[in-house]
Amino acid sequence: MANIHELTERFLNTYGRESTEQIAVFHAPGRVNLIGEHTDYNGGYVFPAALTFGTTLLIRKREDQQLGLASTNFDLHKHIPIAPIVHDEADDWMNYPKGIVNELEQRGITFSQGFDLLFHGEIPNGAGLSSSASIEVVTAYALLTMSGHATDTVQIARLAQKSENEFNGVQCGIMDQFAVANGKKDHAILLMCDTLEYELIPFNSGDYQIVIGNTNKRRGLVDSKYNERRSQCDQAVQDLKAAFPELTLLGQLTLEQFQANQHLIHDEIVLKRAKHVVEEIDRVLQSMKVLKENDLQAFGQLMNASHDSLRDLYEVTGDELDTMVAAARTVDGVLGSRMTGAGFGGCTVSLVHKDSVETFKAEVGRIYTEATGLIPDFYVCTIGNGVEQL
Ligand code: GLA
Repeated sequence: MANIHELTERFLNTYGRESTEQIAVFHAPGRVNLIGEHTDYNGGYVFPAALTFGTTLLIRKREDQQLGLASTNFDLHKHIPIAPIVHDEADDWMNYPKGIVNELEQRGITFSQGFDLLFHGEIPNGAGLSSSASIEVVTAYALLTMSGHATDTVQIARLAQKSENEFNGVQCGIMDQFAVANGKKDHAILLMCDTLEYELIPFNSGDYQIVIGNTNKRRGLVDSKYNERRSQCDQAVQDLKAAFPELTLLGQLTLEQFQANQHLIHDEIVLKRAKHVVEEIDRVLQSMKVLKENDLQAFGQLMNASHDSLRDLYEVTGDELDTMVAAARTVDGVLGSRMTGAGFGGCTVSLVHKDSVETFKAEVGRIYTEATGLIPDFYVCTIGNGVEQL
């Protein structure tokens, strides 16, 4: 957790000590997805959890109509008028908070005065742990709180996703923003992405710990490949409409319905993509069943099957993730290991016996570095809360 005292000093050095307004502090976490990958934009189930580290935001009202944006992670720092907000490539990370201000204004929320904001991010960028969703959600929650508006965290997730889709041009699903906004300590979230119905499930992993492995391979080309997968899923829906005229999302089919009609999909690649999606949604449901029975072994097997499907059918893993996952599975005490997030680099998530964690880090690190030349990072993860005021 960030040192609030140091951050306050940094805030005052950046924005001045003259104002009599209070500095308020907010936090939104990153997220890890335990299972259910590339299912959210198909209207399926996901099972993410909020992390204990994320983005801390210090915010103070101004007297004028300016918006001050600064971060401890980047040098770029500026003041812009709070309305109208326009996207500017050169503004880099600032386009995430700007997108939120813009989205709030689109929804008729106007601000009678501006704000100064200082962000402090603890999520490694490009690691697939939702640093952008964390910035978006903390900004929305803080601005709504500071201006006396309601903070419905489901609505915040929706508007944050919309701003990422429209203002920042990334066609992501709802999972990241939802997990960051609605996470709860020691719970994972079973979310149905079509209806946004969700259930907080106590995640009791007993003697096992969730270990995140960062490949430190930047996720190159992720946006274009991500969008390509999305359109392949749309193609599968079009083909399947021959049997289900009302179908709009793959997640509306049961595994059995899909299996009985998959011959309608003619393109072999599109068929592989669709098969992953429908089977992965089924794996999330199976996970709920085995976790209820406290069968972590079976959950680990499902995590493994998820990765293998993302590797062979959805083809979003790549050498680094595959190498790290294969290495993890050689370590005694590992129940399962898979990539998490969009893929093409980023992080793995493994379920590791607490007595094996040190061996895991050493062994997986050694094998991974020998094979790729990259030095990985490992985070033993505890599940934290969603966005909150500190
Ligand atoms: C990224 C997106 C999410 C989701 C995952 C894959 O994290 O932002 O919406 O699609 O990839 O499961």
